[in-house]
Amino acid sequence: MRPRTVSPNTPGLFDDLSAESSTASTPADTPAIQAQALRRQLHHHAHAYYTLDSPEIPDAEYDRLFRELQALELAQPELLTCDSPTQRVGGAVLDAFAQVTHRVPMLSIRTETDTEASGAEAFDARIRKELGLSESDPPVDYVGELKFDGLAMSLRYVGGLLVQAATRGDGETGEDVTANIRTIRQIPLRLPSDAPSVLEVRGEVYMRRDDFETLNERQRQRIAAGTKGEKTFVNPRNAAAGAVRQLDSGIAAERPLSFFAYGLGDITPANEGGPQWTSHFKMLMQLKDWGFPLAEQTACVQGAAGLVAFHQRVAAERDALPYDIDGVVYKVNDLSLQAGLGFVTREPRWAVAHKYPAQEEMTTVLSIDVQVGRTGKLTPVAKLAPVFVGGVTVTNATLHNELEARRKDVRVGDTVIVRRAGDVIPEVVSVVLDRRPADASQFTMMSHCPVCESLAEREEGEADHRCTGGLFCSAQRKQAIWHFAHRRAMDVEGLGDKLVDQLVDTAQVNTLADLYHLKLDILANMDRMAEKSAVNLMEALEKSKTTTLGRFLFSLGIRHVGEATAKELARHFGQLDAIMVASEDALLQVADVGPVVAHSIRTFFDQPHNREVVQALRDAGVTWPEGEALAPTEMPLAGITVVLTGTLQTMGRDEAKEKLEALGAKVAGSVSKKTHYVVAGAESGSKLDKALALGVPVLDDTGLALLLSGNKP
Ligand code: IVH
Repeated sequence: MRPRTVSPNTPGLFDDLSAESSTASTPADTPAIQAQALRRQLHHHAHAYYTLDSPEIPDAEYDRLFRELQALELAQPELLTCDSPTQRVGGAVLDAFAQVTHRVPMLSIRTETDTEASGAEAFDARIRKELGLSESDPPVDYVGELKFDGLAMSLRYVGGLLVQAATRGDGETGEDVTANIRTIRQIPLRLPSDAPSVLEVRGEVYMRRDDFETLNERQRQRIAAGTKGEKTFVNPRNAAAGAVRQLDSGIAAERPLSFFAYGLGDITPANEGGPQWTSHFKMLMQLKDWGFPLAEQTACVQGAAGLVAFHQRVAAERDALPYDIDGVVYKVNDLSLQAGLGFVTREPRWAVAHKYPAQEEMTTVLSIDVQVGRTGKLTPVAKLAPVFVGGVTVTNATLHNELEARRKDVRVGDTVIVRRAGDVIPEVVSVVLDRRPADASQFTMMSHCPVCESLAEREEGEADHRCTGGLFCSAQRKQAIWHFAHRRAMDVEGLGDKLVDQLVDTAQVNTLADLYHLKLDILANMDRMAEKSAVNLMEALEKSKTTTLGRFLFSLGIRHVGEATAKELARHFGQLDAIMVASEDALLQVADVGPVVAHSIRTFFDQPHNREVVQALRDAGVTWPEGEALAPTEMPLAGITVVLTGTLQTMGRDEAKEKLEALGAKVAGSVSKKTHYVVAGAESGSKLDKALALGVPVLDDTGLALLLSGNKP
């Protein structure tokens, strides 16, 4: 049962690929016109993606257009044309490579569009129905695999030697890219003697994210050096495709590619001495033995529950993987069951791709606002039409600074591709240029602060513009106060952002110390403040006066002095006066303090204004215990990084953090290879999964107690 395809050389297939041909139709158009417009758009984008390796829209958008066309054609089959993109399996074949006819066609997998766990259950239900199983029958065995985001490759070995590597092309005919594929070190050129005389291994060629970053960095340098014809790549898959389709294999060799095996094509039949496997998993294990890379996550799982657990396990690991995946793939394990299930047109019934929510989506830029940060930094922020991406609705994306906004050339009215991967803040990846309104103009940073109208300046060698207004600028003042009151700083409970805005706008609070001279009746008269909350706030302010040196230093909002640095400073010097007069050299002795931080601290305390603020706070009654400095190496848990997650039985997370830090440990927010321990209480989520995935030791309350007694479990 071969997939229905059209010849890649069908005349007229690519004859309307001009930019304007991708213009969308409107719902008012007839279905025939809509279908035609969709076909044009899909051809245009398929050409940009497959042939030019330069996609203009995210995959999710392409899939949507594709499904829209499929739905139209299904409802009115007379609309179907032989050159419709829905009739093709893959991309165009470049003339420059020799063509390869696949002896066994390279098929596609059906995609489950339901990205929730129920998508896995639906697949299992379908398989059980097809197999005629009832509820009392045992669960079906599946293999869970990763869905790699690269490009499909067929590797042909004859007599144990790699003789040909071919892309999928349209599924029937691909391109001979052997010379380029030979440059991939992970792909064996020769197989052990027990391999069958003919073997075609199918799998995915991809580029690791770190390799992609290195490649793009080199490309940027080449562009900067004026090398003609060079470009940067949009994403690792696009870079991998570009490398595989390089006519010059010398260039391909410079672009580091990797490979994972996931299936078979042509093979010596069992009755001619070929292997006779009974399951997909056994076959994969044999491929591994012959030297093909197999993703370690590949697993045998049972029934719907097994699929759901696999989906969740991989989701938790996804961001920590060194390469991109866009979902997982489920395959019926038993090969005789696979044979019985067969194919529907171009897709096997025994496999499905279960995607994760897309990490890239398209939206429009409504405006570009400039925000003023605590230290005066002016940040252009793209305000976006709300878009669901990476599992959340995104309405803002930072453009960082003027240079960055210009480099990406983001303009108001533009259609942009937004990416949100994991917990990383959303970013604009690129602009869809052919959708740019004619009157869109380039972004320029204003010459004056949008809040206080002070001059905005950019220092030599710096990318950021800054408002020169300092605490004269109400935006900076407000943020300085929010920061001061923060839970990890002076911890003034009940002093929220809205209240600070009012207090500054009504000039009740001009400096930090003014907070401690607020009167109850003034507070009670602020919007949304009741007598009771005003009383509570007064108490919280009073309570905050007794603090620690580390918290106090952090609360001052000195540029580059974060919570950890503030604590180190306090620990090292023991006394505020010692820090206020310390030379840059003396400051450099503190762990984590480099020249930039040392300079920033010195500059801060050199300003008479800042010394006055400190004095005014002391006068208002702010105190902390001062003491002698403790050398960090004397601390029992110095150099140990711990992550806390879930609900602990014996103490709250904040308490555990404080106790650990008092012993010299660093408490981090996310798990990485550098984490020494993860302390996991009840209902630990993704951090625990990540610790297990990375092999980081996991402690419970008992383990924590051991750590706090100064021992390393
Ligand atoms: S199996 C007969 N397994 O996804 C089934 N494909 O439409 C053939 N892909 O471009 C494909 N990871 O390159 C299979 N673990 C995996 C995969 C996978 C990624 C790609 C494949 C093709 C597309 C399937």
